[in-house]
Amino acid sequence: MVEAYFALLLLLLPLAFLGLLYFLVRPRPVNIPIKNRHVFITGGSSGIGLALAHRAASEGARVSILARSPDKLDEARNAIRLATGIDVAVFAADVRDYDAVKRAVDEAGPIDVLLLNHGVFVALELEKMELSEVKFTMDVNLMGSFNLIKAALPAMKNRKDSLPASIAFVSSQAGQVGIYGYVAYSASKFGLRGLAEALQHEVIADNIHVSLIFPPDTDTPGLVEENKRKPELTKIIASSSGFMKAEEVAKKALDGIKRGSFVISCNLEGVALSIATAGLSPQRSFLMAFVEVVAAGILRIVALGIQWGWYGSIEKWHRQKKGSARRS
Ligand SMILES: NC(=O)c1ccc[n+]([C@@H]2O[C@H](COP(=O)([O-])OP(=O)(O)OC[C@H]3O[C@@H](n4cnc5c(N)ncnc54)[C@H](OP(=O)(O)O)[C@@H]3O)[C@@H](O)[C@H]2O)c1
Repeated sequence: MVEAYFALLLLLLPLAFLGLLYFLVRPRPVNIPIKNRHVFITGGSSGIGLALAHRAASEGARVSILARSPDKLDEARNAIRLATGIDVAVFAADVRDYDAVKRAVDEAGPIDVLLLNHGVFVALELEKMELSEVKFTMDVNLMGSFNLIKAALPAMKNRKDSLPASIAFVSSQAGQVGIYGYVAYSASKFGLRGLAEALQHEVIADNIHVSLIFPPDTDTPGLVEENKRKPELTKIIASSSGFMKAEEVAKKALDGIKRGSFVISCNLEGVALSIATAGLSPQRSFLMAFVEVVAAGILRIVALGIQWGWYGSIEKWHRQKKGSARRS
């Protein structure tokens, strides 16, 4: 009899806990349709942004893309037309230039899903980086996002339909954990997290939902360029989270945006990283909240193990460098 009560208690406790989490999670779950809606993608002429534009167009969205190079924009428009038969609108502007951004956004018309994907990444030790490169990274990745939001938000808030809207940021796993060689990049992407968390408070009453996408290394022209200068240690550390195709990242990102997820991970390592860094982030899914609570302790141990490995690689690297300096 006692065993039966004990078994019942064991069953009821997790259920009661799930019930509590169902009541607790905020903001409430939401579905954000993109069919026949205006999806505006910055950095949509290359890599992840281009894959997002392809996917959104093939799912029936009206797509606009913005980037600097008019030639790359034309190429992207032609490639999307060839693959989907759909025309996307293109806007040539530098996200650092608020006036140019505002003109593009006004011309494009009210936006339902603002996808802030533009980004620059230079992997280099701070010591070897010019301050102008640091400022450039912050200006494009962080200030560029502010420029877009300031330009687009008034019309997004006054949209005619009552459907939920979205502002989504393409961050990076280097925006969840600091990584050797990414001092400036990580700072800019961690900045996006603060921006996104605070912005969600401010726009929730307007039925606008914020998402942060955290891709691992992804096969894009941007990564090919970055790899030319990437420090060896950055390669060793970043490779611990796999490598994806831009199309796979785009699918994960759009599915997450449509579910209104605040944090969107792209692979298994990314899910573990997101759970380990959940902190005070919003969480809409009571099931994910359950996983976060249950896994928190064990993932902290895993995280300590990962840091142990990374610091081991850094120490080994410096020992080898000192050894070869002594020999020469
Ligand atoms: N690839 C990866 O391994 C990886 C991993 C994690 C996160 N991410 C993030 O994913 C996003 C896309 O990266 P990607 O690899 O697809 O890069 P990419 O192939 O280099 O494409 C970058 C896009 O951003 C545009 N862009 C760059 N600077 C701009 C500016 N100042 N104003 C307007 N547009 C600008 C580029 O066009 P123009 O040059 O013509 O302006 C291009 O369309 C970035 O935010 C990046 O940080 C990438």
